[in-house]
Formats: sequence, C-alpha cells, structure tokens
Amino acid sequence: MADETTLLTSAHVAYLAARTRGDDAFLQRLKAAARAAGFPEIWIAPEQASFMQILLKLRGAREVVEVGTLAGYSAITLARALPPGGRLRTIEIDEARAAFAARWVAQSDVADRVEVLRGDAAGILPSLPDGSADAVFLDANKTGYPRYLKEALRLLRPAGLVMVDNAFAFGELFRSAPLEREAAAVREFNEVMARTPGLHSVIVPLGDGLWVGVKEG
Ligand code: DHB
Ligand code: MG
Repeated sequence: MADETTLLTSAHVAYLAARTRGDDAFLQRLKAAARAAGFPEIWIAPEQASFMQILLKLRGAREVVEVGTLAGYSAITLARALPPGGRLRTIEIDEARAAFAARWVAQSDVADRVEVLRGDAAGILPSLPDGSADAVFLDANKTGYPRYLKEALRLLRPAGLVMVDNAFAFGELFRSAPLEREAAAVREFNEVMARTPGLHSVIVPLGDGLWVGVKEG
C-alpha cells in the first residue's frame, strides 16, 4: 500500500455502516415524522453519528453546543454520548423545526440533557461564556460557518472539539460549473478551517464530509 489510500466507494460506506450502530426504533420514528412534516432529509449519517459519539466519549464531553437542529436527530444521538448531568444545547432559527425537535427531545431518553434554543446562532452564540463547551457541532447555513467557527473557538475549552458538517459540499466539491451559494460557501470555509491557527483539524470522509478539529493551547 505504501502511501496509497483505498478509494472510498459507496460499497465501503455501506459495509462500514452495517458494522456500527444504526438508528433505533425511536430515531426511525423521528425520521418518519420529519419526512411526513416535509422536512428535508439532510440529517447526519448514522455511521457519522457513531463516530461523533465516540469522539465525545473519548473527550469526556459534558457540555456540547450544536448549531442547526433541524428535526433533532443529531442532538438526540450526540446527547446519548454524554454522561448523566451532561448537556447539549442546540440552536435552531426555524420555528417549526425547533418546535418539532423540542417535542421529540421531550419524548426521548435524553430529554434531561438537551435544550433547544430558538433563534439565530449569530445572536445566541455570543451570549454563551468563553471556555464553556467541550465540543461544538456546526451544521447550519454554510454562509454562517466562518462566524460560527470564530464563536466556537471562543466557547471551547483547550482540547475542545469542533466538528463541522458538509465539508464535501453536498457532493458539489469538485463541480466545475458555478456553484450555488451554500456549496460555494463550503469551499471557502474549508480553506478557512484548514488555515485557522490553533486548530488541528482533518476532514473525515463520513456522511457528506465531517471536519474534526481540536483546539490547541
Ligand atoms: C444541506 C444541508 C446540510 O446540513 C446537509 O447535511 C445536507 C444538505 C442543504 O442545505 O442542502
Ligand atoms: Mg449537514
């Protein structure tokens, strides 16, 4: 193999996905209800969720902040990796999505660990104290990512984790035709993320590409 890498195909993804924990009955019901409510099916991949849960467990994370709740699938799965007394705060700007997620969180096994904060992350993140988070997950409007990253680095403790969804820009990363706004924003953000001082990060090819970074210092 030397320095060659196995090219990741959809067969590899199906293979690895079949060898980690998938959605339980509750998460399957949540997705069915979200589909019925007309939400876009853009939740994180289950194998990506497993990977993120493992990182949170390794980090011993107790305080997590998520930007972009959608239906609450990632909030609930990530909160399941927190110890009793842990807390995940998830920020959602869309009122219908926030209400849906809050209802499902309330019925979940992690109702005591998840808070849905309604509003614009650009306004809410600055109200959270410096060094108050063990991990931050960004999965919202891509044009907002540079701003959210700045806030995430302020919020995180040293050795805190920052995870960012959609590094592969919904499959549009290598498209030569002009990109729509959100995909173009991802490409620009990837350069920012790669060159942010004090952040050791790598894109993990799970789901639509997951940035994982550790805050140094
Ligand atoms: C889109 C957004 C996401 O966060 C995602 O994971 C997939 C798609 C989108 O806006 O199309
Ligand atoms: Mg996403």
